[in-house]
Amino acid sequence: MVNILQENTDGIRGHVNLNAKTSPQAINEGDCIGHSNCHAEKRLEQLQNVAKNEAHFSKFNMFREIQEQQETIELSLNQQPADLIKASEFITNADNIYISACGTSLNAAYLGSHMLSHISKYDSKVMIGSEFKYSYERLDPNCVLLALSQSGETSDIVNSVRHARSEGCKIISFVTNQNSTLGKLSDLVLPLRCGEELAVAATKSYTAQITIMTLISHYINGTHQQLIRDIKTTIPNIVSLCSNTQSAIYEASLLLCQQKACYFVGRGCNRITASEAALKLKEVSYIHSEGLSAGELIHGTLATIEEGTLLFSICPSDDTFGDTISDISYAKGKGAYIIGISDVEHQVFDKWISIPKASECLYPLLSIIPLQKLAFFSALAKCVNPDSPRNLTKIVSTSQETTKRQHSNGI
Ligand code: AGP
Repeated sequence: MVNILQENTDGIRGHVNLNAKTSPQAINEGDCIGHSNCHAEKRLEQLQNVAKNEAHFSKFNMFREIQEQQETIELSLNQQPADLIKASEFITNADNIYISACGTSLNAAYLGSHMLSHISKYDSKVMIGSEFKYSYERLDPNCVLLALSQSGETSDIVNSVRHARSEGCKIISFVTNQNSTLGKLSDLVLPLRCGEELAVAATKSYTAQITIMTLISHYINGTHQQLIRDIKTTIPNIVSLCSNTQSAIYEASLLLCQQKACYFVGRGCNRITASEAALKLKEVSYIHSEGLSAGELIHGTLATIEEGTLLFSICPSDDTFGDTISDISYAKGKGAYIIGISDVEHQVFDKWISIPKASECLYPLLSIIPLQKLAFFSALAKCVNPDSPRNLTKIVSTSQETTKRQHSNGI
């Protein structure tokens, strides 16, 4: 049986059966953005009027947590020097480096793996938490497992870590609470330092995880001081977006709430941002979305593109820009409506969500924040409470004991 470990209103943790339907909390009519039967322009005007007073949205945990990232990203950089030394020793001395996580933390794991190979030239393998027991990789005292989990209680991760530990693997965990189950099972804990995250949809924990993974990659490379300077100068611009960007997000959320599905595409590390944006949108607005490599469009997905299909393209001015523009141009030729997330405008975009120009490794932080806001406003545009998505809760655990992995050698 699959259970979810849930914090109730008394702050006591208990198990809830995932098979039971959980109803989202109702949303006040005044928080719905526009009414479905009113004209799009009128809905936009309503949204912009409400949005002039951002404090109006602060009653939602998800909105507050998105806004808090201005501070939390910087706080997450604040790791103990001794811990950074130990983490880099574990990584650089390991024969094999594994990274495991679920959901949003899994997207952070993919980004972390990308950063480790791109910046510090260490290759790692990402293992989906729930797939760990079906994998056949070598686990021994010369391996290190990086476990990413906001809660530190997700059973697929806890079980993976218990198994890896039993084989002698070193464990580094990235968690909010050092006293969590995962924290206690680890040789080293790198705290996310983003404060407690209440909204079911992870936002600030994701940016904290990718900040720390980027920091470690630069630490190994000896370039972390420059990274810290870059983040400190860039971050103040990324949460309080300019008003043009804000209205592009509102307009896109109004387009989205009338759609059954949409795509997010990117190349390189932007492909991972695309997956995370798709997950966030699905979670809180129930709109089906898929994140994929822009280069994969022509290998099948293009068949589903028709007049007006919404396609979000994450294409900052890094080394992926030219290829991505060419990928989305094909899709536009088949009728897709292109919304570009980039620091530069391009004629192929029907709408442009602008982000600040920055050094390449900061684009995953810069691009995801407007997309988290897009998910939030799309939920409101559908009159759905973004803080309590149906059928989901904050911590997922199962009562099943993980079956020990069957290795080819029979162990
Ligand atoms: C994130 O928005 C989701 N609620 C979910 O995917 C979550 O990231 C996943 O369940 C893993 O949780 P964890 O980070 O606490 O381990």
